[in-house]
Amino acid sequence: MRSIRIEEKVAVYPGTFDPITLGHVSVVRRGLSVFDRIIVAVAKDTHKENFFSFEERYSMLKEVFAGESRVEVMKFEGLLVDFVRSIGAKIILRGLRTVSDFEYEFQMALTNRKLDSSIETVFIMAEEHVSYFSSSLVREIAKLGGDITQLVPEPVVRWFEKKIGRLKVSK
Ligand code: COA
Repeated sequence: MRSIRIEEKVAVYPGTFDPITLGHVSVVRRGLSVFDRIIVAVAKDTHKENFFSFEERYSMLKEVFAGESRVEVMKFEGLLVDFVRSIGAKIILRGLRTVSDFEYEFQMALTNRKLDSSIETVFIMAEEHVSYFSSSLVREIAKLGGDITQLVPEPVVRWFEKKIGRLKVSK
């Protein structure tokens, strides 16, 4: 057998993260068994109107992954492929939850490939117990004063408390 060349495998996990949920965290954790390092890249330019500002989403992610030496949080503006190329990475990591994610992810992966064919998108499935909700559902529950503690990492609950200050927190 030929010897195996050890190169650092780095993946960029991009998203809006408005806010990051336990589903996103699950993808990062599982991704760490495949990649040496994951760069969680928060996007400024998305097609969405965001609840948390770009800076808030970035700071929130920094808090969530503060203890994770193999996870780095970065911001980016403009095209994702330009950012990936600029840091010398070659892989975009995306999570898949349900079949309904597939069409959108398929379109995005192929468009990114059209923009830069040297960059590959790799998919990891989020764990099933965190596969049924999204950031917009979390925002809706939080704005209506519901309990989001089972859906998001702990620091995110505090970010919502600061921003809207009327959450029920289960004891
Ligand atoms: N668990 C829970 N929810 C998840 C999830 C997971 N594992 N993976 C995705 N989601 C949800 C998110 O919560 C979000 O929900 P919402 O729509 O209710 O808010 C939705 O699925 C998708 O969000 P996200 O993962 O943040 O990705 P996104 O689609 O917002 O991110 C970018 C898109 C940022 C990657 C894309 O817009 C981009 O690349 N922008 C830069 C500009 C660019 O290059 N554009 C061309 C792209 S081809």
